[in-house]
Amino acid sequence: MLLLTLLHSIFLSQLLTGVCQASWRPVVTGLVSSRGYRGDAPDDTKGDLIEIPLPPWEEKPDEPTAIKRRRLLYESRKRGMLENCILLSLFAKRYLNTMSEKQLLQYDRLINEPSNDWDIYYWATEAQPTPEVYQGDVMDLLKEFTKNRSHEQRLDAPSLEYLEKESH
Ligand SMILES: *[C@@H]1O[C@H](CO)[C@@H](O)[C@H](O)[C@H]1NC(C)=O
Repeated sequence: MLLLTLLHSIFLSQLLTGVCQASWRPVVTGLVSSRGYRGDAPDDTKGDLIEIPLPPWEEKPDEPTAIKRRRLLYESRKRGMLENCILLSLFAKRYLNTMSEKQLLQYDRLINEPSNDWDIYYWATEAQPTPEVYQGDVMDLLKEFTKNRSHEQRLDAPSLEYLEKESH
């Protein structure tokens, strides 16, 4: 049942957020005719909007931690816009495994509750102030990580092979 719920939510979020690996183009060229999911720029006229109501974010207090980490890793990689695919997947690689339960919850809310991926990007880059509800140590970590002080070339999401190394 739990697995089903998980698969269901993965399927839904994949449907609703678009898939970055396959969508280097859509964000840039607008090849997609039906937008209106997470990822539209704030100044989009929404002239071609097809409303797909997003299910409201819900805390999942009964979700086992290992599954939560895996879900959040997946959700960090499958964003509505390429910039967040790269940023959040690298952030997840760096921090997800060491986050406490409380931090995982903050991160879950931060990446899944806002209905527009641009908001998350603007908060992380500090182009816009982070709303109070998303402030906290996870957001501080993300802002700091976004500054790229380690001078990483962040051109793509990391290959998942690192997960195998971690499990050894
Ligand atoms: C991060 O820093 C490196 C080295 O200064 C730079 O080449 C790169 O463009 C920076 N940003 C990203 C997003 O990769």
